Amino acid sequence: MVMFDDKDIAMWTREEADHRLYRQDILVRTAELDDIESMVRINVQSIEILGEDGLFMPMSADFFAGVVPSGFSIVLEKDDEILGYSVAVPAGHSSPAFFPVTDDRRVGLLFGTALVPQLMRQGWQKWLIKLRLATFQSIGYTEAQCTVSPFNVSSLINLVGSGFQISALKLLLDGYPRFVVRNFLNGSDQESFEATGKRREPLSRDRLSQHEDWLGAGYVGVAIEKGTELVVVYSKPRGSGT
Ligand SMILES: CC(C)(COP(=O)(O)OP(=O)(O)OC[C@H]1O[C@@H](n2cnc3c(N)ncnc32)[C@H](O)[C@@H]1OP(=O)(O)O)[C@@H](O)C(=O)NCCC(=O)NCCS
Repeated sequence: MVMFDDKDIAMWTREEADHRLYRQDILVRTAELDDIESMVRINVQSIEILGEDGLFMPMSADFFAGVVPSGFSIVLEKDDEILGYSVAVPAGHSSPAFFPVTDDRRVGLLFGTALVPQLMRQGWQKWLIKLRLATFQSIGYTEAQCTVSPFNVSSLINLVGSGFQISALKLLLDGYPRFVVRNFLNGSDQESFEATGKRREPLSRDRLSQHEDWLGAGYVGVAIEKGTELVVVYSKPRGSGT
């Protein structure tokens, strides 16, 4: 049984046709095609607020029309107004996994969360990550993958803080760098790490190649340290060699 808050998520997804719950008086429900206009608006606003290209992917109505029908995406609603969205989709032939997998039917992809400013800094993204992971886990998925800009501070902190490991650094289709992050949903599959030999690498724009070097040498990012600059803590999975 996969519990989320006080609910058995398998029951939630099976028995309530329209998948609804409340958090802080806000309705959390499955996204529908009618929500796409609002989702595009929030995406555009978010990118304007971030004030820099490459931190968050522009998402068109066509993009949403491709992912919403899978039934894994979520919107937040109050007084008939959409205040945020969170996209997820099963990896498959139309949305290949970011990191190679042997069985793509068991991998879920998280494609981004965006909130209106009044919902920020209240733990929503972390909660929505947990909800989508629990949903994937409840239907037997074993892994979730996602991409995140190394410079999207909130998102990187929330993903790594939710158990995602930084596994690769790639230039995506928009030409900006993204970490590919993975979360092994079944605890027993979670890799264990060498206790010694941790590497700490600051996230500065002119030192991204250092991150590529650690990743290329078999390290994965397992924690983010906050300070005057963010630092990624890299560790090596046990048994991966030196
Ligand atoms: C990204 C987004 C969804 C995060 O929303 P949120 O749930 O409000 O997350 P928060 O802003 O509270 O950030 C989470 C963490 O980052 C930390 N953080 C945020 N900015 C920080 C900064 N500049 N320096 C250090 N830490 C920072 C917060 O303190 C918090 O840490 P904590 O959990 O240890 O307290 C929201 O900011 C948003 O909609 N942004 C626009 C769209 C976007 O960028 N989406 C992400 C792409 S996937």
